[in-house]
Amino acid sequence: MSHIVAPSLLAADFTDLKSAVAMVDRSPAPWLHLDVMDGVFVPNISFGLPVIQAIRPLTKKVFDVHLMIVRPDNYISAFRDAGADVLTVHAEACPHLHRSIQAIKAAGMKAGVAINPHTNVTVLEDVLADIDLVCMMSVNPGFGGQKFIERTYSKIAALKELRTRASSNALIEIDGGVGDMNAKRLIIAGADVLVAGNSVFGAKDPAQAIVSLSGK
Ligand code: DX5
Ligand code: ZN
Repeated sequence: MSHIVAPSLLAADFTDLKSAVAMVDRSPAPWLHLDVMDGVFVPNISFGLPVIQAIRPLTKKVFDVHLMIVRPDNYISAFRDAGADVLTVHAEACPHLHRSIQAIKAAGMKAGVAINPHTNVTVLEDVLADIDLVCMMSVNPGFGGQKFIERTYSKIAALKELRTRASSNALIEIDGGVGDMNAKRLIIAGADVLVAGNSVFGAKDPAQAIVSLSGK
């Protein structure tokens, strides 16, 4: 399978989200990554339901919504109604992770689970067969433009093994510090989805940056 590029809107010019979404819409990237932060689970606040709802009519691309919030269960149907296709919750924010996953799927979305850099992939062992995506954080969540954590490569290898043992089809998504300098190595390591914020929207030519990441 060829990999999926998911530009992260967090790094876009917030005064002109319409153009940012239109650029992604014209690009070969099949997904748009949307980072929701609550200032509690992570030390930053980004955007939420009204923004996702507002941009939904602008594109048919897959909305890959990454919830960095506490109590995500309270908002599952709201994010579905706003237009999320894939809804990802953090393992660290969900005391009843299995229940959260089932609720996302029952609401008609693909279910993702994100893990922080300090979280071992083994926490996913008993849910891996139930989920569609693992979002492996390769930076500490909360901010774009951070340095990629090198240990991610060995975590991908461990997750791939676990995935095979669990007979799971979950996609492996890498989120944080991804760009031309590490995309190729990540794909060889087993990444299925590459999230790219600053390496796309911070580039001189964002559309070209997506083309370049797509061709790795
Ligand atoms: C970080 C977010 C990322 C972020 C990635 O908390 O989850 O999706 O937008 O940004 P870059 O690609 O700039 O590291
Ligand atoms: Zn993200």
